[in-house]
Amino acid sequence: MRWAELLDVLTDSDRKREVVLERATETERMALFLLRREGWAAQVTPREIKEYDIEILKPGAKCAVQIRNQRAKVHLGQVEKFLDFLAQPNAKNFTDGVFISTSGFTPSVYAYLREEKIANLRLAIMREHQLIFDCEKIDASEEREKTTYIGVFTCKGGVGKTTISAHLAGAFALNGYDVGLIDLDHQQNLRKILGEGVYLSSTKGSLGSVISVLTKDEWDEGDYKDTKIVICDCNPEFEANPREYIQKFDYCLIPTTLNPLGINKNADVIKRTLASIRRENQTAELFVLINSLQTDEPNRNNLLNQALQTQFKQMRELDARLHYINPADVAIRFSKQLLYWGFHLFDGSKPQLAFKTVGRYSYPRMDFLKLVDYLELQTQVQQSKSISAGGCTY
Ligand SMILES: Nc1ncnc2c1ncn2[C@@H]1O[C@H](COP(=O)(O)OP(=O)(O)OP(=O)(O)O)[C@@H](O)[C@H]1O
Ligand SMILES: [Mg+2]
Repeated sequence: MRWAELLDVLTDSDRKREVVLERATETERMALFLLRREGWAAQVTPREIKEYDIEILKPGAKCAVQIRNQRAKVHLGQVEKFLDFLAQPNAKNFTDGVFISTSGFTPSVYAYLREEKIANLRLAIMREHQLIFDCEKIDASEEREKTTYIGVFTCKGGVGKTTISAHLAGAFALNGYDVGLIDLDHQQNLRKILGEGVYLSSTKGSLGSVISVLTKDEWDEGDYKDTKIVICDCNPEFEANPREYIQKFDYCLIPTTLNPLGINKNADVIKRTLASIRRENQTAELFVLINSLQTDEPNRNNLLNQALQTQFKQMRELDARLHYINPADVAIRFSKQLLYWGFHLFDGSKPQLAFKTVGRYSYPRMDFLKLVDYLELQTQVQQSKSISAGGCTY
């Protein structure tokens, strides 16, 4: 039976009772039918309510349901927004939230909910007239055929290259990938902080993931057949980085910061960074990423962001593969955890990533998982671009 026929059977009497249902999308009505079939009293919310689409009720439980019918998998930024809504005082009469997606969820979403032990949100995939709640298995990430090389480079020192390389590797590892983390900087900071590598055990019953910290001479694709993500922490002096690595980059992250004295200087640094990379690699997609973002200054950040973006627009006219990651989508926030990362060298504790939950959340874990989502979506966009000349949105 097709969806439309099912809906006809189901909603005949409902249509008379619920005016809002008339305005519901077909996806919402399908979800309504399936939720009612599972014993929930369910109602579509009036259009003015944007934060959730359906309200469901059972003895002892009242849930807000968000539904997404989109081609790409639901990413962590979307789930974060819904979690923020559930944490607000006006959502306190809901016991839980339910996020229903027709296309599934990215591995970062599952990793985040698992690592943060979030108990008030359930995920479900709606497919072929079914709601599948235990959906992580069917959403498992596809095998990568080709190794993806990601460089973290800027010609300025001390803006977070090493910190970003290590924690981006950590986020890919939480998504189930083994990662090669190549220390191209002669300071060998990664080796000092993480030694030979780290193992992130898995709580989902399968094997965990390994981050292997390697020097430029130790990495060999043939020796690490299961390692499909390679992240290079570069030397700020461009010439000191081996050309063969720069040439392999599929992506390159250019960390920068939002601060008044830095804006002109940073734009200049980005220009020089761009020129250096392009000498060796004309195809890599380059992403400017804001690091050490202060979250308690939204107004100042908006102004600084606009100023940097204006300068950036001129650069983009020269290079269409240069992207500015809007900090409203993804940025690495300033955190004490990242500031003191590596402290184990002083107190003798075990090397680890700065992914520990402090208070309610782990900022670094959320930010780096969102960064993985962003890059993965970009990969899909690039692949579909090579088939059709489509636009790129996040
Ligand atoms: N998001 C952040 N929040 C707080 N502190 C940060 C953040 N990112 C980086 N730092 C701190 O900034 C300092 C410099 O970071 P890092 O060593 O990663 O920079 P780098 O670009 O690799 O430097 P170098 O050019 O010397 O290799 C470190 O002390 C780190 O703890
Ligand atoms: Mg460094």
